[in-house]
Amino acid sequence: MRRTLVAANWKMNGNKASNEALLDAFKKGFDGSADTAIFPPALYIPQLAESLKGTDIAFGVQNAYFQESGAFTGELALSMVKEFGCQYVLIGHSERREIFGETDALVAEKVAATLAAGLIPMLCVGETLAERESGVTETVVKTQIDAVLAKVGIAAFETIVVAYEPVWAIGTGKTASPEQAQEVHAFIRQLLVAEDAAVAAKTRILYGGSVKAASAEALFGQPDIDGGLVGGASLIADEFVAICNAAQG
Ligand code: PGA
Repeated sequence: MRRTLVAANWKMNGNKASNEALLDAFKKGFDGSADTAIFPPALYIPQLAESLKGTDIAFGVQNAYFQESGAFTGELALSMVKEFGCQYVLIGHSERREIFGETDALVAEKVAATLAAGLIPMLCVGETLAERESGVTETVVKTQIDAVLAKVGIAAFETIVVAYEPVWAIGTGKTASPEQAQEVHAFIRQLLVAEDAAVAAKTRILYGGSVKAASAEALFGQPDIDGGLVGGASLIADEFVAICNAAQG
């Protein structure tokens, strides 16, 4: 059985005071019915490590580089991420792909390096509105998954968490309907089943894109939706608590 996982992607938001208020409210309100992970801006990782000590709430970075060290100005190595207590690394978010030009090949390198560091990659995939409208959603998602499969193999998907995030639903208020999301989740699961059914049965596939408290329960109730990756709503304590508490284990 796959336990529901709900992750918060804070993106480039917050400050020490607002983070503390958000974390305190979350620790008070969360009923423990799901696994949870928080992705703050990397500078705040020590603040989260301190605040979340003694809880089951995991945390991670929104991006890291695949090289071990060296002349890579502005980047973070996975050994550094690990040293500060992170368990997860978000990889290939559509904003990284679109704004910062990350390719499928770079994403695959990052997934491989994250696994090698003993951390859990949360691999984001998803189509743009133009791609959905021209009927190539499955081709796009397959290409993104295949690049990683080719690099790390199917066994790694026991560890990797996949986040399906249709780009047209991110930050737009347009959530995919539970049925629309389930259709793509089932397609992703089938891609993995074709490689190894036992592994595919264990892979957690999260939905992301304007998840709100009001939509969480119906989304999480779908057979192939194993939780959510939440952006905007994760910055509002009551909303994020309600989303996490909508999970039924
Ligand atoms: P959103 O972001 O919930 O604000 O749509 C989700 C994400 O980008 O991970």
